[in-house]
Amino acid sequence: MLKPMHIDLILPQAQAYAEAHTTPQDTLLAELEAYTLTHHAHAHMVSGHLQGRFLAMISRMVQPRRVLEVGTFTGYSALCLAEGMTEDGQLHTIDCRPEDVQLARSFFDRSPSGDRIHTHLGDAMEIIPTLQESWDLVFLDADKVNYINYHEMIIPLMRPGAWMVADNVLFHGQVLEDPVKGKNAKAIDAYNRHVMEDVRVQQVMLTIRDGLMLIRKKSELA
Ligand SMILES: C[S@@+](CC[C@H](N)C(=O)[O-])C[C@H]1O[C@@H](n2cnc3c(N)ncnc32)[C@H](O)[C@@H]1O
Repeated sequence: MLKPMHIDLILPQAQAYAEAHTTPQDTLLAELEAYTLTHHAHAHMVSGHLQGRFLAMISRMVQPRRVLEVGTFTGYSALCLAEGMTEDGQLHTIDCRPEDVQLARSFFDRSPSGDRIHTHLGDAMEIIPTLQESWDLVFLDADKVNYINYHEMIIPLMRPGAWMVADNVLFHGQVLEDPVKGKNAKAIDAYNRHVMEDVRVQQVMLTIRDGLMLIRKKSELA
């Protein structure tokens, strides 16, 4: 059986150069990344330094009051997304794995914005409708097969002009195959086409790490 294509999308030298010219992560994030890399069986899922600084930069640009993250993992991206929140800002992050939520919580509790980060344990498809918020910034980073469902559920809950970032939209280069193979790569490819056809949003696909889709809900919809 043919193995799915796994392209090293970014030249390792380019990645190292980009990281070397990006603001360093703080000590808490460095500790969390190192802990995740040494202790977690799925360590590759952590956003890490470069993507983390990008998410923090987006957060500082948007200055969100309400942030939603779908897919907490060990909490790295949530800490980055919290950086630009307003003083009364609140971040809600969802994951279905208790051990990850517990680990993330232990790091949130050591962060200055920890009391404004709310963890939710369970299936995001069930939890999202229970959160009565109007989202300013959303990070989509959970099960790929549900990306279209999350998008359809969350876009109406975002304020006009709000922002969403979706991770892994290049899915290790597997979306470049013809035909696209594998359940997750197919789901991501379908999601990318879905966003492209969604008249409620504008988007730009960024080739950072595994691909990020930066999406803006049109304010004309107000
Ligand atoms: C790629 S990781 C998130 C990485 C994290 N955002 C970061 O950047 O460090 C995806 C996470 O989504 C969670 N997840 C997958 N399906 C889910 C679902 N249906 N509901 C809630 N969480 C889910 C997994 O347990 C996993 O921790």
